[in-house]
Amino acid sequence: MIEVLDAGQVRRARVAGALVADILQALRTRASVGTNLLQIDQWAEEMVLAAGATSCYVDYAPSFGRGPFGHYICTAVNDAVLHGRPHDHQLAEGDLLTLDLAVVKDGVAADSAVSFLVGAARPPQAVALIAATERALDAAIAAARPGGRTGDISHAIGTVLTGAGYTVNNDFGGHGIGSTMHQDPHIANTGRPGRGYRLRPGVLLAVEPWVMADTDELVTDPDGWTLRSATGCLTAHSEHTIVITEHGAEVLTLPSPDRG
Ligand code: MF3
Ligand code: CO
Repeated sequence: MIEVLDAGQVRRARVAGALVADILQALRTRASVGTNLLQIDQWAEEMVLAAGATSCYVDYAPSFGRGPFGHYICTAVNDAVLHGRPHDHQLAEGDLLTLDLAVVKDGVAADSAVSFLVGAARPPQAVALIAATERALDAAIAAARPGGRTGDISHAIGTVLTGAGYTVNNDFGGHGIGSTMHQDPHIANTGRPGRGYRLRPGVLLAVEPWVMADTDELVTDPDGWTLRSATGCLTAHSEHTIVITEHGAEVLTLPSPDRG
């Protein structure tokens, strides 16, 4: 089912989005060389609960995972890209870390992910990979508008990622979001303009380009959750929750300094 939010729900979506963005920003600042992934999960738990929000992940038990996820945040390092389960691991200089967080606040969900480098090292391949997902996300947001179609967004993402020389895996992609994290429509990371569900004001979408440096094949960790590149290559993932407005799309998961 596709939910269309009313004005009150959109106001609450802005609050949920700002919360997710601010938590991710705070965790990004704290995550440094030597930080344990379990510590990041602990901080995420404290911040989500202190804000009076509910985690979308702790009890989440979809067919593609094993049992409830059991953590507040996804932490994916280097070759890990999606559903990274926090585990006893210390971050090292130059690690490419992806944090992915979704919460429900006052009945509305928001979902966002950010990839960044730990420490001061800026390995060019990692920088390029992150930049490609960020540019794809920007293009997706620019392509999202009332009267347009989900295929416009998918096409915009796919054009940037393939144009940057990557092959796209379409096993996982973006999604509708509203009272819960995962809803219709699915937003593939490649597609044809003019195809798919017609967008209208009040539709909330989580748009999430992700990419692997030299493969389009995923493998699952023994934990039943963490998805890695089959070749062990670096990966990146950028996600925002957006709402379709009368004029285009508004990004709900920008951290405070970037908000208008
Ligand atoms: N937030 C992820 C997404 O973007 C889903 C993570 S599910 C989890 O759709 F259980 F792994 F956390
Ligand atoms: Co998502």
